[in-house]
Amino acid sequence: MEEAFSVPAARAALGGSLRPRRYLMCEPRFFDVCYAINPWMNTDTRVDASLAHAQWSALVKAYRDRGHTVETAAPVEGLPDMVFAANAALVVDGRVFGSFFHAPERRPESGAFGEWFRASGFDVHRSQSVCEGEGDLVPVGQSVLAGTGFRTQLAAHREVQEFFGRPVTSLQLIDPRFYHLDTALFCLSDGKDGAAGGNIAYYPGAFSPGSREVLRLLYPQAVIATEEDALAFGLNSVSDGRHVFIAPQATGLIGQLARRGFVPVPVDVSEFRKAGGGIKCCTQEIR
Ligand code: ARG
Repeated sequence: MEEAFSVPAARAALGGSLRPRRYLMCEPRFFDVCYAINPWMNTDTRVDASLAHAQWSALVKAYRDRGHTVETAAPVEGLPDMVFAANAALVVDGRVFGSFFHAPERRPESGAFGEWFRASGFDVHRSQSVCEGEGDLVPVGQSVLAGTGFRTQLAAHREVQEFFGRPVTSLQLIDPRFYHLDTALFCLSDGKDGAAGGNIAYYPGAFSPGSREVLRLLYPQAVIATEEDALAFGLNSVSDGRHVFIAPQATGLIGQLARRGFVPVPVDVSEFRKAGGGIKCCTQEIR
């Protein structure tokens, strides 16, 4: 699964000015719905293991075809949510802020991903409070948007700011269907100028009134998604600044992004919705 990181080839595939990304993923070999820790999960649900594997592999291929590198952490039997690699950490400037999972069932994932990080030459800082990595922490430009309400605790936001020395903006999530920030918002592009640079797409209904105002002030150019597109996991997307890897069911959002000049790359990972996950949940970016 591992591959050499060829920057010139990646640049060519990306078409010039964009930076090729390094993604960490985890093969869904043991993916299943064995417990219910969000409203999307139901333990009566049967997972189609071969479909899940095919969809995950198509996502890996979609990234590689656009010049990005995908590395994989070894899946562990008994950790059915390990496929959601985004939750394991936030990595910025080669520094790893490791997660402390809310659900006891997921806590051992920190050790499993920690092994990958250490073997790959990274030190891992372990969060003092509940913190679910990129599930609730979204870097945009020089700053970090941080969700709280269902999983990651406010105290972790302060710890993240101190650890990275980057401004962290706390956002209150209020709708249990959007229990992680990355189900309601994603980074479209990283601006270069100043802390509030960059742009996002989000669904306002997932946020408290005050947090909605904060997002409106910080990102006046944001793409505003409908509830329908958010429920289709359209905001659980990955953007490299040009391509947006997105759920094909989020048709309205796909149209909006195309009109803004982005290139939507539809990748169907519907099988993971049974666990409350999508494209971004499966993807940890190593920055
Ligand atoms: N079943 C997992 C959980 O509830 C899904 C995690 C989805 N990941 C994400 N980045 N939103 O923790």
